[in-house]
Amino acid sequence: MRVGVFDSGVGGLTVLKALRERFRRIDLVYLGDTARVPYGIRSAETVVRYALECAEFLKEKGVELLVVACNTASAYALETLRRELPFPVFGVIEPGVKRALELSRGKVGVIGTPATVRSGAYQEALSAAGLEVYAKACPLFVPLVEEGLTEGEIARKVVEHYLKELKEKRVDTLILGCTHYPLLKGVISDYMEGVSVVDSSEAVSESVRPFVKDEGNGETELYFTDFSQNLEQAVELILGRPVEPRLAKGVFSA
Ligand code: DGL
Repeated sequence: MRVGVFDSGVGGLTVLKALRERFRRIDLVYLGDTARVPYGIRSAETVVRYALECAEFLKEKGVELLVVACNTASAYALETLRRELPFPVFGVIEPGVKRALELSRGKVGVIGTPATVRSGAYQEALSAAGLEVYAKACPLFVPLVEEGLTEGEIARKVVEHYLKELKEKRVDTLILGCTHYPLLKGVISDYMEGVSVVDSSEAVSESVRPFVKDEGNGETELYFTDFSQNLEQAVELILGRPVEPRLAKGVFSA
């Protein structure tokens, strides 16, 4: 089975990795829209347009199921993608919410890009289930990860800057509502001591299990809309092994 995965950049590779750990034989085709990252600061219309173009590229590559490995695109484009594509499409938000409901004792923090937080997607789902929700946009986390600064003093300072408020609110569970954030999980968990951290990359790979037939050659193809700086290192850092990136040729508007 060919499974497509896309994100605005390298962050969605955390989802790809979790999928590969669960399904050894499927063929994975990844698209990272590195030419247009970040999505998290753009308007809803632009995010929907970008998401449709990414999905179209993966459709041309013959995928039979699509995982939107980007919270921003899941928040704004999931319905449109489900309507426009001839195969099942899964986002990262529902699985993250489901996992938080299992773990939380009542107070949940959600962190994400400004666009994801602004969409209110997590807040609505969690408060409808009766939880107290505190959401915080962390716009510097994505560039930190794209720069490979996932540990050390700078990462610790930025984490403290954004998460201080949630720590003071004494949330018991924290949703990493951006697929770049699992790369900062070490620093985040250290700072948020004792808090359950929900990694939506793990949650989504668990939730697609009933729809995935683990058959194929176990190949992994990685496409990017731009060979940006440090791309190969970022791929290796996230996947734990080198995989050669390919340039995505297709219609990617400005
Ligand atoms: N990794 C993406 C997400 O999960 C967004 C990063 C960005 O492009 O802003 O929201």
